[in-house]
Amino acid sequence: MPVSAGSAPLILDACAGPGGKSTHLAQLGARVVATDIRPGRARMVADAAQQLAAGADGDRVHVVVADALRPAVAAGLFDAVLVDAPCTGLGVLRRRPELRWRRDAADPDRLATVQAALLEAAIELVRPGGRLVYSVCTWPEVETVGVVQRLIAVAGDRVQVEDAAILLGRSGDEGSLGAGVQLAPDRDDTDGMYVSVLRRTA
Ligand SMILES: C[S@@+](CC[C@H](N)C(=O)[O-])C[C@H]1O[C@@H](n2cnc3c(N)ncnc32)[C@H](O)[C@@H]1O
Repeated sequence: MPVSAGSAPLILDACAGPGGKSTHLAQLGARVVATDIRPGRARMVADAAQQLAAGADGDRVHVVVADALRPAVAAGLFDAVLVDAPCTGLGVLRRRPELRWRRDAADPDRLATVQAALLEAAIELVRPGGRLVYSVCTWPEVETVGVVQRLIAVAGDRVQVEDAAILLGRSGDEGSLGAGVQLAPDRDDTDGMYVSVLRRTA
């Protein structure tokens, strides 16, 4: 997870449910504000935080039911914001084959519009010098590189794309897509995740 910083960085996990990444970040020492628009999903984050060893790491996760498209926190508050966005989920088909029948051809474009709006809202919450991390568990370019390009089109003067491959400790990366990284189940033995890391410069 390339959102490390100095001591106890303050991180917003904007689309947090069920909480895998929030709890991981807390275990790495971050203070995490975890939001999800669905109360049931937010509850899952709270439950996962409670289960962290001895409760000590869990105390660093603060869960809020909130719409990340309409943030109610001060601009520039966070050292880093993670947008692990709702997506077509094609990268988890080996674990959830039923998704095949729950998707239609219009889904990537429809979801890309939501993903781009989430990133636009999220960049405002990152302090200058902080990082915005975008991830999805899918691979259509409209939902991956395309979403990052949409953010650059509206905020390119305030955002610099970092080399996610280097941040993820990979080199000579055949999965490198633009400056983001596309992981593939057959090549990487993981879910088909896409990750892009952006630094807010101003
Ligand atoms: C891919 S899942 C996140 C998985 C999570 N990061 C983890 O690692 O456990 C996307 C989440 O985004 C939430 N979501 C969708 N639209 C949202 C919005 N506008 N604001 C906040 N959360 C949203 C969904 O309810 C869902 O729980």
